[in-house]
Amino acid sequence: MSDLEFFLILLPPILALFFIFNVFKTKQNTLNLPPGNMGWPFIGETIGYLKPYSATTIGEFMEQHISRFGKIYKSHLFGEPTIVSADAGLNKFILQNEGRLFECSYPRSIGGILGKWSMLVLVGDMHRDMRIISLNFLSNARLKTHLLPEVEKQTLLVLSSWEDNSAFCAQDEAKKFTFNLMAKHIMSLDPGKQETEELKKEYITFMKGVVSPPLNLPGTPYRKALKKMGEKTENLEDDDLLGWALKHSNLSKEQILDLVLSLLFAGHETSSVSIALAIYFLQDSPNVVQQLTEEHMEIVKAKKQAGETELNWDDYKKMEFTQCVINETLRFGNVVRFLHRKAIKDVHYKGYDIPNGWKVLPVVSAVHLDPSHFDQPYHFDPWRWQNIRGSSSSCSSSWLATSTMSNNTFMPFGGGPRLCAGSELAKLEMAVFIHHLVLNFSWKLADTDQALAFPFVDFPKGLPIRVHRHTFII
Ligand code: HEM
Repeated sequence: MSDLEFFLILLPPILALFFIFNVFKTKQNTLNLPPGNMGWPFIGETIGYLKPYSATTIGEFMEQHISRFGKIYKSHLFGEPTIVSADAGLNKFILQNEGRLFECSYPRSIGGILGKWSMLVLVGDMHRDMRIISLNFLSNARLKTHLLPEVEKQTLLVLSSWEDNSAFCAQDEAKKFTFNLMAKHIMSLDPGKQETEELKKEYITFMKGVVSPPLNLPGTPYRKALKKMGEKTENLEDDDLLGWALKHSNLSKEQILDLVLSLLFAGHETSSVSIALAIYFLQDSPNVVQQLTEEHMEIVKAKKQAGETELNWDDYKKMEFTQCVINETLRFGNVVRFLHRKAIKDVHYKGYDIPNGWKVLPVVSAVHLDPSHFDQPYHFDPWRWQNIRGSSSSCSSSWLATSTMSNNTFMPFGGGPRLCAGSELAKLEMAVFIHHLVLNFSWKLADTDQALAFPFVDFPKGLPIRVHRHTFII
């Protein structure tokens, strides 16, 4: 073939590409996109966006972009043109229009590991069906009857292993607690048993896959996690989520396995980090610990008088200041910093265009640390939650449930039709853990450490603490 013939063959596709690019460009030029910087070809600004930073800040990238472009800006992240929102109103708008204007859109690596049927990546009817099963398993009725006793049992199991004047990584202990709780509730696996330990090992492999680059090459954690997740759905019981879903739903085994994994993932990592954050904030806030101790001593005294030992729902309802501490930990620590969405229609918001197909990132952490919404946002102040609505009891857990829905400035559990299915369980876990923690121990950092956002939140040294057992209560 001559050079001319070769050129003539290539000409039409080149012209077509040129035409498409121009149409695309012209369309973009007529849109009123938010200001911003699209960065380098392909990688855009992803590297800067993902650069680790202190979890109690919004990070240099967000800070610089907000001061330069405002709270709504365009960028190119995770391989796609993106609108980033640090705007409370737009965040709420995005989450509440799930399925109508926006859709959940996590990076492929997440779906690749959690499975294509994972609840975190599914949309539409299939997501709704899985959500119904999860909500059923995490309902208030089950929290009261099944989960509260189990949460207390698993808390005591972990705390009873802490020796006086010993030092260890608090984050690992928190992970042990939430993992055992989830393994028991989802698959009836008891802590310490061989199956549970095996699952833990497999889970760690799987987590490495989630947080490392999504390269599906032999030997990478990603590939190992994919392979391992295809195995093991035996040894089921009726009273756990796995057994129940197999018996009562029309889901296939593959779908159920993915559901189980998403619950293990969504329920274990987030709440363990939240507990670690509470331990971290509290060791630096003696006046908060003092008020917490008074609240929990009161509860224990009343129980002793009534001849009761185990915590019940009424006790939990009395943990009002504890709820303020939980709110403040979630606001300041920001376990889930931003959510992944994409526009499924051309959207107009406050004069800006958000084109169909663009990625959209509502950054809830930026709102939680915004001084126009929270006075002195970089200060750990649980009392701020008491002053809201002028009532000293306003941070009780029922109030929090509604406030999370109605108040668009506080969204640690997301919002709209994908609001965290385990938010009430997470708060219960934190409250019960704090209850036994402050009653039985005082603690200090054994080595310097701080929460970093990678953007998933983690303590690089595992939060080393030294504990001292109290003698005055139990
Ligand atoms: C403090 C701890 C927790 C935090 C901060 C948290 C946060 C979140 C957030 C922000 C979302 C929304 C994701 C999105 O919209 O894309 C979510 C979803 C979810 N969370 Fe949590 N979560 C926590 C604990 C839990 C627990 C204990 C469970 C129980 C198993 C759980 C189960 C779920 C599930 C199943 C979803 C998906 C809901 C859906 O797509 O309909 N989470 N969580």
